[in-house]
Amino acid sequence: MASVIIAGVGSYVPTKILTNEDLAKLVDTSDEWIVSRSGIKERHIAADDEATSDMAIKCAQAALLDAGIKAEEIDLLIVATCTPDYLLPSTACVVQHQLGVLPHATCFDISAACSGFLYALEIAYGQLLTGRYKCALIVGSEKLSSIIDWSDRTTCVLFGDGAGAAVLKKVDQPGIGIIGSDLGADGAMRELLYMPAGGSRCPASPQTIANKDHFLRMKGKEVFKHAVRVMEKVAREMVEQHHLTLDQINLVIPHQANIRIIEALASNLGLPLERFYINLDRYGNTSAATIPIALDEARRAGKIKPGDYTLLVAFGAGLTYGSTLIRW
Ligand code: ACO
Repeated sequence: MASVIIAGVGSYVPTKILTNEDLAKLVDTSDEWIVSRSGIKERHIAADDEATSDMAIKCAQAALLDAGIKAEEIDLLIVATCTPDYLLPSTACVVQHQLGVLPHATCFDISAACSGFLYALEIAYGQLLTGRYKCALIVGSEKLSSIIDWSDRTTCVLFGDGAGAAVLKKVDQPGIGIIGSDLGADGAMRELLYMPAGGSRCPASPQTIANKDHFLRMKGKEVFKHAVRVMEKVAREMVEQHHLTLDQINLVIPHQANIRIIEALASNLGLPLERFYINLDRYGNTSAATIPIALDEARRAGKIKPGDYTLLVAFGAGLTYGSTLIRW
């Protein structure tokens, strides 16, 4: 029996840091409000001329280096993002060209917002197992600052920019790497978190710009409740499906949206908060990039050892959600 392993990971965040104090100069907010309601202290913001693909390339280079794999060896490249460089072509094609991935590679983006990295993992896992592809590069990269209304205090304090990547390959060893995943979506809740204009339903026009319809809109309280419920559900299901107990999970890497969501999840699962990797205080919510950035940091910090079980859990616009179980 073969397995699909994560052979390398990498991450990148832009250099510019925007603190809560900086935000308090832009909108009517305070460090105290932001920290107490979300746990976020600062976030990184991409330069004006730095696009999602630029960040994707930097984290991808780090992941390739970590895996000891050359760009030419990649034959499947997936970018998970809700802030692509363009509506077309895909950001994956931009990354492919700049990174030196060969033209025979299959390259595409996926749109699953904050759950995007887990969706990409599942697709790559399945494709590698079939033997159709040999080596996959998956990236979660987001320039959320480009779709944030910087005059809306209910959203602008929560998000940041960044990117994370993983290199995946098949190995002839059973029971390691990606053990399983459980993904879902509930499109009935799509308008809890969305960007109204710029797509085919409502193309860009002077009116959409005047209405600020090209910015993210969110019903925070509803998203919060749904997030806690679905993340608990998929975390439990994943562990049960693989005949494990939650106690056997060495590290949970949750989507980094709000410390209160993570605290509620930990409490509902009956796990100590120390079992969760948390870095949202430094980056805010970077959507599809939160999990690979956290994975990269956790590995570098020595929090993941051979034989460990790591559970990735996410939710995002759609509303999408998912969990992925990994054994190292
Ligand atoms: N500073 C100061 N006051 C604020 C701010 C701010 N930045 N934002 C809102 N307020 C005010 C509100 O106007 C409200 O005032 P009112 O009572 O006078 O009306 C008050 O603070 C409380 O607002 P609530 O919305 O009730 O605050 P809540 O405790 O629900 O926290 C938050 C809001 C942080 C958005 C929370 O609901 C949340 O995190 N939800 C989940 C959001 C999320 O995870 N989104 C990411 C999804 S992932 C993806 O796909 C991108």
